[in-house]
Amino acid sequence: IVRGFSSSAVRNVVIKNVTIIGGGQMGAGIAQVAASTGHSVTLVDTSGDILKKSIKMIEGSLKRVTKKKFSDKPEAGEEFIKKVVQKVSTSTDAESAVQGSDLVVEAIVENLKIKQDLFSRLDKLAPPHTIFASNTSSLSICDIASSTNRQDRFGGLHFFNPVAMMKLVEVIGTPATSQDTLDSLLDFSKVLGKTPVSCKDTSGFIVNRLLVPCMMEAVRLYERGDASKEDIDIGMKLGAGYPMGPFELADYVGLDIVKAVIEAFKTKDPNNPLFDSSDLLNKLVAEGKLGIKTGEGFYKYK
Ligand code: CAA
Ligand code: NAD
Repeated sequence: IVRGFSSSAVRNVVIKNVTIIGGGQMGAGIAQVAASTGHSVTLVDTSGDILKKSIKMIEGSLKRVTKKKFSDKPEAGEEFIKKVVQKVSTSTDAESAVQGSDLVVEAIVENLKIKQDLFSRLDKLAPPHTIFASNTSSLSICDIASSTNRQDRFGGLHFFNPVAMMKLVEVIGTPATSQDTLDSLLDFSKVLGKTPVSCKDTSGFIVNRLLVPCMMEAVRLYERGDASKEDIDIGMKLGAGYPMGPFELADYVGLDIVKAVIEAFKTKDPNNPLFDSSDLLNKLVAEGKLGIKTGEGFYKYK
C-alpha cells in the first residue's frame, strides 16, 4: 500500500507485504518478527526442504516467546503461534514472490556478487514502489544497490541474532537513498518493536565495526596461546558484562559469517591490522565447522 505518489518518485511506502529472501537463521527470524506484527510475509529460499526447516525454526522461536507472554493462558499462545505461522507463505521463486511486495529484505549468503545478481534480477520484476533492503553484516549497501535501477529505494536493514530477542536494527542509507525510503525503513523497524539507529554506509556500520574486531582479537589471543577459549569467554562475560563470550558468540553467529565479515572489511581497508585473518578461523570454516548450525565450531554442540 502506497501513500502520496508523486509523478516522478514514490513517497513514504507503508509496508504491509514483505518478501524475505533467505530462510536461514536471520531470514527466518525477520519473517517471524514481521509476521508477529501483522505483516503478510513471503519467505523465499532455494528448496522446499530448507523452507520446511525455516518454518520449524519460526515455530520453535515462537514457542519460546509465547511461553512467557502467555504463561497463564497456553491455549492463547498456541492460537498466536498458529496465526503468525499462517501469515508466512513460502516460495522457491523469488521473481514471482516480489511482485506483490512493498519491501524485499535480503538475508542470503554474505557474498557481494551473489547479492548483486539476486537484486539485479528482482529489480526487473518488483513494482516501482517496492523498497529493497539488505541485511548484510559487512558489505557496502552502495555496492549491492549498484546492481539495480532503484538506488533511491534501496537501503540497509541490519537485524541482530536472535532477531526475536535483539531490539536493535541498523538502518543504513547511501548517498542515493531517498529520505522517504529511510523514513519507511525507520517506521517499519519501529512497527516491528525494534529500536532503529542509523549509520553511514561504512564497513560493519556501528555494531559489527566494534564487535567483530573484538571477536578476532579474542581468536588471536587464543592462537598466541595466551589464554584458553573458556577463560576468554568467562573473562568477557564476567568482566565486561557480555551475555556471551567472543567464542560462544562467533559459534552462535556462524564462523562462515565471521570470516566473510572480516574479509569484506579487509577488502575495503587492506592495511588495517584489526582486519587481519586468522589461520584457526579459516581452518575451521574449511572443515565445515561453522558453529552451532553445523554442530561444531570453536566448541562442540553434539
Ligand atoms: N527465540 C526466542 N526466544 C529466545 C531465543 C530465540 N531464538 N533465544 C533466546 N530466547 C529467549 C529464551 O527463551 C529466554 O526467555 P525467558 O527469559 O523467557 O526464559 C531468554 O531469551 C534468555 O535465553 P537463555 O536463558 O536461553 O539464554 P541467555 O540469557 O544467554 O539469552 C541471548 C540468550 C538473548 C541470545 C543472549 O545470550 C544474548 O543476548 N547473546 C548475545 C547475542 C548477540 O550479541 N547477538 C548479536 C550478534 S552479532 C549480529 O547479529 C550481527 C551480525 O551481522 C553478525
Ligand atoms: P544462513 O546460512 O543461516 O542462511 C542463508 C540462507 O540463504 C540459506 O538458507 C540459503 O539456502 C539461502 N540462500 C543462499 N543463496 C540464496 C539465493 N540466491 N536465493 C535464496 N536463498 C538463498 O545465514 P544467516 O546467518 O541467516 O545470514 C544471512 C545474511 O544475514 C548474511 O548476509 C549475514 O551476513 C547477515 N547477518 C547474519 C547474522 C548472524 O548472526 N548470523 C546477523 C546479522 C546479519
